[in-house]
Amino acid sequence: MSSLSTKVGRLSLERPGMVASGIMDETGPSMIRMLEAGAGAVVTKSVGSEPRPGHANPCFTEVEGGLVNAMGLPNPGIAEFKAEMDVAVPKGKIVGSIYGASAEEFAMLAGKMEDYGACAIEMNLSCPHAKGYGMELGTDPVIVKEISSAVSSAVSIPVWAKLTPNTHILTQIAKAAEDGGCDAVVAINTLKAMVITPELGKPFLSNKFGGLSGPAVRPVGVRAVYDLYDSISIPIVGVGGISTWRDAAQYIMAGASAYQIGSAVADQGPEVFGRINGDLVKFMDEYGYSSVEDMRGVAHE
Ligand code: FUM
Repeated sequence: MSSLSTKVGRLSLERPGMVASGIMDETGPSMIRMLEAGAGAVVTKSVGSEPRPGHANPCFTEVEGGLVNAMGLPNPGIAEFKAEMDVAVPKGKIVGSIYGASAEEFAMLAGKMEDYGACAIEMNLSCPHAKGYGMELGTDPVIVKEISSAVSSAVSIPVWAKLTPNTHILTQIAKAAEDGGCDAVVAINTLKAMVITPELGKPFLSNKFGGLSGPAVRPVGVRAVYDLYDSISIPIVGVGGISTWRDAAQYIMAGASAYQIGSAVADQGPEVFGRINGDLVKFMDEYGYSSVEDMRGVAHE
């Protein structure tokens, strides 16, 4: 039988599907629920130095093919988050997602996540709607290299950079992360987006714009992973619009070593992980792929 186990650089996973940052990953019990449903790891909600309430409601809405959200990085702050990590870490692999405004802040947060038992760090360099954070830093290769280098020197666990698709220099950004010492990149975060309510003549979200996720972004994500596979040497984690085994297979064939699922968890519940695990193994058996590694990047051949 084909094997779903995979490696993202130094990190081994029994299953390639992880929970993407931002969904069912704010509390210890919800993270455990996702692990028990078949996720190979959980990426936490992005956590910063201080508690943050996030943007006012409405902060998300459904659209054809996905969701547009502007949560605004709500989180309890790194000190409070320790209690959630204490609950979840003994039960499985937890990747600590962090955001900051400077290399020093990222390095401090990464150190805390390592102390709390995270198996890897995911740097949020890509949130499209939080002033002073995310893609405001993650679209400048010089800043990305500086942050990557500070965080990689601050911790001994693997460091991943989550990248934004809202740039025409995605591969340069990824190269900057690689040059700064990152172990892997995660592609993609949401596409900057807006919804207007015609009756009101106003943007729907309180923050005016947000990020589009879900099936509509999948072809953008697959293309991004495909381009990155040709441009960098470190592993890639694919994310964006995965809700079936076919979607997961596309990302792996484009070059991803593992993948993350976000919006489909909201749609289908945590069971989406078990379903995709089972269906993906059946496909791999039938088509002669013995492992994820065996299938990775075949679309380039
Ligand atoms: O607003 C949020 O919490 C979303 C973060 C992100 O898109 O990275």
